[in-house]
Amino acid sequence: MPAVYDLANRGLLPPGFSLVGFARREWQNEDFAEVVHDAVKEHARTPFREEVWQQLIQGMRFVQGTFDDDDSFERLRDTIDELDKAQGTGGNFAFYLSVPPSAFPVVIQQLKKHRLADQSSGSWRRAVIEKPFGHDLKSAEELNTTVEEVFAPDQVFRIDHYLGKETVQNILALRFANTMFEPIWNRSFVDHVQITMAEDIGIGGRAGYYDGIGAARDVIQNHLLQLMALTAMEEPASFDADALAAEKTKVLGAVRLPKDLGRDTVRGQYATGWQGGEKAVGYLQEEGINASSKTDTYAAIKLEVDNRRWAGVPFYLRTGKRLGRRVTEIAVVFQRAPHSPFDHTATEELGKNAIVIRVQPDEGVTVRFGSKVPGTSMEIRDVSMDFAYGESFTESSPEAYERLILDVLLGDSNLFPRTEEVELSWKILDPIEEYWDSNGKPAQYQSGTWGPVEADEMLERDGRSWRRP
Ligand code: BG6
Repeated sequence: MPAVYDLANRGLLPPGFSLVGFARREWQNEDFAEVVHDAVKEHARTPFREEVWQQLIQGMRFVQGTFDDDDSFERLRDTIDELDKAQGTGGNFAFYLSVPPSAFPVVIQQLKKHRLADQSSGSWRRAVIEKPFGHDLKSAEELNTTVEEVFAPDQVFRIDHYLGKETVQNILALRFANTMFEPIWNRSFVDHVQITMAEDIGIGGRAGYYDGIGAARDVIQNHLLQLMALTAMEEPASFDADALAAEKTKVLGAVRLPKDLGRDTVRGQYATGWQGGEKAVGYLQEEGINASSKTDTYAAIKLEVDNRRWAGVPFYLRTGKRLGRRVTEIAVVFQRAPHSPFDHTATEELGKNAIVIRVQPDEGVTVRFGSKVPGTSMEIRDVSMDFAYGESFTESSPEAYERLILDVLLGDSNLFPRTEEVELSWKILDPIEEYWDSNGKPAQYQSGTWGPVEADEMLERDGRSWRRP
């Protein structure tokens, strides 16, 4: 809702824009508006302007109902018809399903039964679907079948909010709008790639959603595999949805799992610790979590891509909650110089060259390379060359959801993963989850640290180490 408000505030919504909330709770329109109002005031990026808000609530309604109740959907239909006449929506609607996967079939069928999904006479109907999109490949396939019985593929928009982030879209600009990166973006120069999504927060109030899902399903299956696809894919013929999806699908289809999942995957669970000067409780002590839960709050996996560009280059993906700090980055780490004319002690402190795409929170790109330390000897040390959004652009970045919601309204599906991408991602994750299910428990790590020691050992075995962002 704050994202919708921001779009309105930036003048990007048509005057007829209307919004209907549908949920179980016994609310009137005013109650819904009040909750939205508070959320907008707290979270919107742009300043609160009363006239924008007044315009927005003219088209805002709430329908109280349950998913299996026909009367509720008739009321929804009547409300939409009323708004259509009052506001002039042109009969175009997007249904934004932020519901548990178990509720998908009934909601989708109700939309069909109550003729809310029919796309006729020049108007459009779209379905926006929030994750989790299934729990594994099988359930994702079932969900896809359910959705596609009613909505055609081009009517379905699956939200992966990482794709709405400016810095994530910039991966493609960096790679394909320039000449200097792409020639070295391959196995001849790259040693390995590290993709990190670290959070300092715990599970907050989301025990019900998170337990039984865990870090790998919550983040690797969608956000991190999408980041990996954008980093590894070939240049698309154009920046259109089909061309992009084709390249991402090809690369996800070429992903190879490690032979020894015990050696090259690690999962962890946060234990008590200190974070930001405050004591943090362990996962098993969080409210609503079963004391014997085996859910992973940290996951690290090693993948390879079986194609000519990447053969033999490991992609290490890691994510976790209650880690040292909130940071998401993609580090493309290069091989060492094949030969050094400098004496060994001069290059002791030298790491490997790297291009680091800083997705958040300090958005930008860093190039790491060795440079001569000023002085009388030929000592070489790592330095950084930085690009920071805040310094280079005066334009403000729209929030990811702003961009994605606008794209849904415009019917632009470039930034939405397709069915095949979602299914291929589950295909990558399923064997890992199965292995974890039948092999022990997650390793414990102290809150506020960088995850379990087992994850460090995993890279050490390969003669590498995790970057400390
Ligand atoms: C969501 C996950 O998709 O992404 C959350 O379900 C996670 O567990 C969130 O906290 C992180 O998003 P962001 O944009 O803050 O990195």
